[in-house]
Amino acid sequence: MAEHQTEDRFGHLRTTITLEPGERIVLCRCMKSGDFPFCDGTHKEQSGNAGPIVVTAPSMNEEES
Ligand code: FES
Repeated sequence: MAEHQTEDRFGHLRTTITLEPGERIVLCRCMKSGDFPFCDGTHKEQSGNAGPIVVTAPSMNEEES
């Protein structure tokens, strides 16, 4: 399961996410998610066209090729 950590870096928040091989996560780009940095679908209730960012880590087999 993705692990994330947010830290203050020179006065700005920085989030680092570590994925398992083959894991897929959906990140919020609208900044309104109640589960930030992950998308919880709240963007559908917002004006504008911001939607999520989908990230997929390569599987172990893909990393070896
Ligand atoms: S809740 Fe922000 S992009 Fe989905």
